[in-house]
Amino acid sequence: MHILRKPDWHVGESAATPEDMFLNRRQVLAGMGIGMAGGVAGSLMVPLAAAAAEEDPSAGLYPVPRNQSYQLDRELTPEEVNSRYNNFYEFGSHKEIHNAAQVLKIRPWEIRIDGMVEEEKTIAIDDLLKAMPLEERLYRHRCVEAWSMTIPWSGFAMKALVDFAKPASSARYIRLETFHDKEMASGQAQFWYPWPYVEGVTLAEATNDLAFMVTGAYGKPLAKQFGAPLRLALPWKYGFKSIKSIRKITFTDERPVSFWEQLAPAEYGFWANVNPEVPHPRWSQATERVLHTGERVPTLLYNGYGEHVAALYDEVGKTEKIFY
Ligand code: MTE
Repeated sequence: MHILRKPDWHVGESAATPEDMFLNRRQVLAGMGIGMAGGVAGSLMVPLAAAAAEEDPSAGLYPVPRNQSYQLDRELTPEEVNSRYNNFYEFGSHKEIHNAAQVLKIRPWEIRIDGMVEEEKTIAIDDLLKAMPLEERLYRHRCVEAWSMTIPWSGFAMKALVDFAKPASSARYIRLETFHDKEMASGQAQFWYPWPYVEGVTLAEATNDLAFMVTGAYGKPLAKQFGAPLRLALPWKYGFKSIKSIRKITFTDERPVSFWEQLAPAEYGFWANVNPEVPHPRWSQATERVLHTGERVPTLLYNGYGEHVAALYDEVGKTEKIFY
């Protein structure tokens, strides 16, 4: 049905926009006295954190207590780097979508929970936030494009959402869907993509301790370019599984077909677990570039979270490719 068109990350890693070039450009501008708040570059910039906090009625909930069980082995990526290097195809198929994403309207924002649940319901994000135990976790994030970052996410365990939804015992998967509004998000006017963005997990994955519903970052409500007001974080999987700006959560017994899987099933499969020894069909996954230092470091199996999640794949790994 859909016209197959390669996403931008189909370019080899060496040909992808090198973020160190982007960062160097910022350093040069800073050296010239042309900072983000002024000058040629500054005139195009929105003060990102301020924009997010100003209109977000959940601002008073943050910061939330940090759960010390989730530690990092490397330093946090600075907010100003993370919040200006994003994948959010709804607002453009490049990394500098932070300004374009500011048109995302995040209130009112309702989330539909449906499918194989005790009772289908629609809940406003602010009611959901009140019902869930919020905490902060430090997580790694590994993009399939072979760059990585670390981030202090705020949010709640996906397991809490599953308990809240009360799925039927026959439900096996959760399908998550982003908003669909091409008037607001110009990327969604690109007809060759199978909008809206969809992702899926098994119920066993969703109830694993690591699966996290994200509502904030850096001690504040989630900035729009990170996928406000609700996104997913599955740190042992490639980043494309971590769907942004979720509107609909469906419990089902059918395996969902994700956005990228529809476009290129051989390259972006359902499981998408991180493995340095299984190269992407067109580039190696052995190492990753750390976003703010540009340093190249070895990639770890399950992005370093194997002790928490490897057992999930003992059975399915015997018959299916679980690394793409
Ligand atoms: N969710 C939506 N709705 N649209 C997207 O384009 N990109 C994915 C994921 N979630 C994407 C999305 C990809 S490829 C990555 S690597 C991460 O978001 C990027 O998250 P970040 O911008 O917060 O680093």
